Amino acid sequence: MPGTSTARHLFRLWWRRLGPRAAAALLAAAFALLLLAVSRYAAAPTPRPTHPSTYGHRLPALVDITLVHGTADKGALCLDGTPPAYHFQPGFGDGAHSWLLHLDGGSWCRNFESCARRKLTNLGSSAHMETRAEFVGILSDDQSQNPDFYNWNKVKIRYCDGASFSGDVQDEVKNGTAGFFFRGQRIWEAVMAELLSKGLNRAKQAFLTGCSAGGLSTYIHCDDFRALLPKASTVKCLADGGFFLDVEDISGRRYMRAFYNDVARLQDVHKKFPRCGSDMEPGQCFFPQEVAKSIATPMFILNPAYDVWQVEHVLSPEASDPQNLWLECKMDITKCSSKQLEILQGFRKSLLDAIDEFKNRRDWGLFIDSCFIHCQSTSTLAWHSPSAARINNKTAAEAVGDWFFDRREVKDIDCEYPCNPTCYNVVLDQPSKED
Ligand SMILES: *[C@@H]1O[C@H](CO)[C@@H](O)[C@H](O)[C@H]1NC(C)=O
Ligand SMILES: *[C@@H]1O[C@H](CO)[C@@H](O)[C@H](O)[C@H]1NC(C)=O
Repeated sequence: MPGTSTARHLFRLWWRRLGPRAAAALLAAAFALLLLAVSRYAAAPTPRPTHPSTYGHRLPALVDITLVHGTADKGALCLDGTPPAYHFQPGFGDGAHSWLLHLDGGSWCRNFESCARRKLTNLGSSAHMETRAEFVGILSDDQSQNPDFYNWNKVKIRYCDGASFSGDVQDEVKNGTAGFFFRGQRIWEAVMAELLSKGLNRAKQAFLTGCSAGGLSTYIHCDDFRALLPKASTVKCLADGGFFLDVEDISGRRYMRAFYNDVARLQDVHKKFPRCGSDMEPGQCFFPQEVAKSIATPMFILNPAYDVWQVEHVLSPEASDPQNLWLECKMDITKCSSKQLEILQGFRKSLLDAIDEFKNRRDWGLFIDSCFIHCQSTSTLAWHSPSAARINNKTAAEAVGDWFFDRREVKDIDCEYPCNPTCYNVVLDQPSKED
């Protein structure tokens, strides 16, 4: 092959000119750069749809979107007035009568400005959603990647209301010429009605799951879900990366509470939380620690102790770090100073304190790993790959399966960072915007 011999010739010339030492050093540097590029890519928090990272598993299924039409009269609409949507993959074999639902996440919008931006994205409008979704992690139909739920009916429910499926404002809200629909609760009801008519009403087992803002949605709707299903069915819920903490940030402010106050006022969510005390700020009722108090259905709390999203947006939000002292640390935990690590250990302690009252509930499960990551159930790598974190030699997938099927009691709490050598810690390329 002429091309190859020319290349070989050029290489030899180059090698001679540089001298073998320098050339070898250059080659080694190029190789290291390549490795770095690969590892950076591998560390992306969620596998990007256009470059699926499969970690030895087969390529994920792509599942078509279904728009929920005919619910306009019930007012089930995304922020911009488009219909809500989900992706459905039918179950097979002995999973044909089992259903796993996943509520998507994607933060919240707190004011007209941020909700207006959201309307132009897939988090506020089905007109902007991709028509197909990759089903990976807990949604995968590959047994090697998802050992306990691979053959279940699966539904990925899109998030387009901006308030964790909990707002229910009667009229379109106007801000100048811009209109907004705050109808997450109605979206939840419309999607459930449609799924019930597709066979969910005959489910023998059902599992409501969600990550991030969708994890919060799971706490909010777990008992609603139970109530929709046959009495004889087994129904449980899994909230992944959704235990947002009502804590002081690095500047001593309760940034997240102020944020939730705005979301709760904008979308008038108090109707959804009748038990929430009148002496409390509206946003306080939106924290899982409050929501979970009244849940009667078995819940699994899957949450890293150093959840990347929370470190970035709850503990060290941009607005509380004007000098950017946390910038490196919140993108890469290995870059944290000892002082910052101390603060992170305090954050872990706040999480453990907050979940303490749920630890003793016999039918609840816990998997609190000490990794720097977010959304482990929807990641090919983190759910059940050879690189997934383990506690007591079990991946999150195994722990959740053990708990769902009562194979053992699962209250897995990891030791402090950096004790767990199996931890997979993400490295972010740049901080993500929050508003
Ligand atoms: C509309 O939204 C903008 C930005 O949030 C705000 O400044 C303005 O006061 C709002 N107008 C009304 C009528 O609420
Ligand atoms: C850990 O689990 C794997 C299977 O997932 C098993 O092959 C291995 O022997 C276990 N290691 C220990 C130390 O128990």
